Amino acid sequence: MCGIVGYVGPAGPSNRPLEVAMEGLARLEYRGYDSAGVALVTPEGLAAAKRAGKLANLRGALEEDPLPPATAAIGHTRWATHGPPTDLNAHPHLSEDGRLAVIHNGIIENFVTLKAELVAAGVTFTSQTDTEVVAHLLARSYAENGDLTAAMLAVTRRLEGAFTLLAVHADAPGTVVGARLNSPLVVGLGDGENFLGSDVAAFISYTQEALELGQDQVVTITADDVRVVDGEGAPVEPRRFTVDWDAAAAVKGGFATFMDKEIHDQPKAVADTLLGRTDGQGNLVLDELRIDEAVLRSVDKIVVIACGTAAYAGHVAKYAVEHWCRIPVEVELAHEFRYRDPVVTEKTLVVAVSQSGETMDTLMAVRHAREQGAKVLAVVNTHGSTIARESDAVLYTHAGPEIAVASTKAFLAQITACYLLGLYLAQLRGNKYADEVAGYLEELGKLPEKIQSVIDGEEVVREVARSMADATSVLFLGRHVGYPVAMEGALKLKELAYIHAEGFAAGELKHGPIALIDEGQPVFIVVPTPRRPTLHAKVVSNIQEVRARGARTLVIAEEGDEAVTEFADVVFRVPRTPTLMMPLVTVVPLQIFACALATAKGLDVDQPRNLAKSVTVE
Ligand code: F6R
Repeated sequence: MCGIVGYVGPAGPSNRPLEVAMEGLARLEYRGYDSAGVALVTPEGLAAAKRAGKLANLRGALEEDPLPPATAAIGHTRWATHGPPTDLNAHPHLSEDGRLAVIHNGIIENFVTLKAELVAAGVTFTSQTDTEVVAHLLARSYAENGDLTAAMLAVTRRLEGAFTLLAVHADAPGTVVGARLNSPLVVGLGDGENFLGSDVAAFISYTQEALELGQDQVVTITADDVRVVDGEGAPVEPRRFTVDWDAAAAVKGGFATFMDKEIHDQPKAVADTLLGRTDGQGNLVLDELRIDEAVLRSVDKIVVIACGTAAYAGHVAKYAVEHWCRIPVEVELAHEFRYRDPVVTEKTLVVAVSQSGETMDTLMAVRHAREQGAKVLAVVNTHGSTIARESDAVLYTHAGPEIAVASTKAFLAQITACYLLGLYLAQLRGNKYADEVAGYLEELGKLPEKIQSVIDGEEVVREVARSMADATSVLFLGRHVGYPVAMEGALKLKELAYIHAEGFAAGELKHGPIALIDEGQPVFIVVPTPRRPTLHAKVVSNIQEVRARGARTLVIAEEGDEAVTEFADVVFRVPRTPTLMMPLVTVVPLQIFACALATAKGLDVDQPRNLAKSVTVE
């Protein structure tokens, strides 16, 4: 939520600082797209521009009214929390004398008190944001000590909440100062230039060398130097890492949208997540799990915490892990887990699933679980992210950067990583012998090709989607692992096409939802393999039940499953796959359907309304 970029580097007529800030904002726009703005430190003082709406509006404004060459730049793309998305509420926010500018991601929880204090001291506010208090506080502190880093340290001590802040001052040319508390900020290291970003996407076009910042740290960058201090001002040596995403992974690569591209990336996302996880003898090895094996053997319950799509990946994991390991698995939305009184002990393994690794709800649940003595294992896609850093162990998914706001390839990679975890625990705890684990791994290894074959058949799905652009409600049914797939199919349609959609457990149908069915109601049904005859027969009955009441049935079934044909208006075929692994193929037509239907409605599938990727507020 909210994208932040900072840059210090060579000044010149080409205005590289502005160019880098705008390129960074384009890469970060998925984090929020209500408004955007930049501030530059120029020899004549600060120059700033900001506009409500997407980045294109800011770009238009800069073409009409170009900004002068600068030595440093900060840029912001906003997902509004306090105050509607207007030009005035857009960031940067400037001090009263216009010599200091600040941008912010997060929420300043005590801004009302701070604002009252500043108003009483005669400050005039021009926006409705919580951020503006920081601009005025920083300006006052800078006036006292003439040092932007010292001012940032002094002001952040007074702030409550979660924030990443970047500030520049006209009297500190070639310098950007940043601070982070519970919101993301990383440093990019260049040659004669340095970068700051909410995530590495902000500077991946320029450098792959980066530094992780910890909580409550303040960073000062100049063209040749990066200094990090803790909240008390003591120097800190941050961890350096090399970003393993290349810049090409963060561009559309010939596809109309990032969503299209990321759906097509899925075979690779799954293959990369599986890569290098076995030793020479075929044993599954998860070296990165730093949790002691004895602790993992003693685990008596697993709780998966996550939000949205990541939580549906957790639901799929529950079926597999319970079956393979015989450990009870609970799946809970992170925000619900955090604010009740969950039973968690030192024998509980909490698995936090998150693409961004920055979701505040999940982060707070991670902290809560650790406070209760549980070990936390993060399944995360973003290296160096806060959840990865704060967990006891990390199992990285290797989906590459996910730019479209609605998650697709990260979902498949999360499921894959959870399967690996389940098989690893089963092997470690003696529930499965090495040859059985090897058999499952072999099946998993076939999945990328199977996913590709579903994608190859996308035109059939797209055509049906285009014919349904007028739909106002779509239902999704599934049983067993098909149930979370149904929920994910419904979520994709809601968020991309703004259509009312619900995913139900097929068995729950007659306990209420069947009342929704009338003539022509579209219902997707995710059918399990016929090689599980009891399960399969139940779902085939569910298809008949809705059809008998007038529903239009869109069925996702395995190749060769002819039992469904008679009751289906449309059948989308997926390759033969072991039951527990079916979500990796059955969800793909649902993603393609939602994307194609939204496109047919003329909607922006990469940046759906009201949403932001990486929800960094609770
Ligand atoms: C839906 C979607 C969201 C995220 C959720 C968690 O398409 O993208 O529901 O899955 O906000 O995000 P992460 O995985 O970053 O924690």
